[in-house]
Amino acid sequence: MSTTIDEMRWKAVVARDARANGQFWSCVRTTGVYCLPSCAGRPKRENVIFAARRADAERAGFRPCKRCRPDRFVSGNLSERLGAIDWSRVTTDLNQNGWASLGRILNDSECADLIDNYDTPDCYRSTVHMRRHSFGEGEYKYFSYPLPPLVAELRTKLYAAIVPVARAWTGQTYPADHADYRRQCKAKGQTRPTPLILKYGPGDYNRLHQDLYGDEVFPIQIAILLSQPGKDFDGGEFVMTEQSPRKQSRAMVAPLEKGFAIAFAVNERPKEGARGTYKVKMRHGVSEIRSGSRYCLGIIFHNAI
Ligand SMILES: [Fe+2]
Ligand SMILES: [Zn+2]
Repeated sequence: MSTTIDEMRWKAVVARDARANGQFWSCVRTTGVYCLPSCAGRPKRENVIFAARRADAERAGFRPCKRCRPDRFVSGNLSERLGAIDWSRVTTDLNQNGWASLGRILNDSECADLIDNYDTPDCYRSTVHMRRHSFGEGEYKYFSYPLPPLVAELRTKLYAAIVPVARAWTGQTYPADHADYRRQCKAKGQTRPTPLILKYGPGDYNRLHQDLYGDEVFPIQIAILLSQPGKDFDGGEFVMTEQSPRKQSRAMVAPLEKGFAIAFAVNERPKEGARGTYKVKMRHGVSEIRSGSRYCLGIIFHNAI
């Protein structure tokens, strides 16, 4: 550990220098939280250690500070943000629970742009009114090809990051590159894009379901919340159920905030039991929105017929 670097970091903390945000994270041993350099908290020097990466602070057991919310901080380009995710932790969570938080991967303006685009008809191939299909209440739109650059980048890069888990779950040799996987979908007649934006207003909800669009299924998908709970909307929790053989369903709620993403099982996943591995079925949905509007971006990796 270089003392000089730590001295410079400490100076930034003392100055509450927002320009240093994202460059390092200050971990306060007495409180067990980690902070942005700009945090208004006043820790003592002897209680502070520094982490170069957010994942390092979290792996060391530090929780995000409630005051400066370092977990909400997002900077750099998408590759850098995805590179900062602790993918071994994500893999462990996916294996244990069938879902994993990816933390915040979109900033406020990216979320706002995606929401603003919702009413631009030429971006989408179709609109689904959920009531008509008894899917729930609310609507969603499937993007058309070519996908907006940010959506295309998310789909390609998240695929590459998550493909090892998909291989381990299914034993299938998914290609490393999403372009090759799209060709695999095409060979099965699945050519239409599946990334979508869902829009919910008061009283809307999404019944528990699985996003299957043909025989070709990539076992993991991503949801990114674009609205802020408690501010833009209330209610509207992301709910998942896990159905084990001969058991009642287990319900799970994923805490999401604006720009935060989760990865979760589309349909089946393997689960370790006392007598070996067995398959559990997952479903996901959204509880009723009590007020406001909730937008969510869904990234599904297989295409649709
Ligand atoms: Fe879905
Ligand atoms: Zn703080």
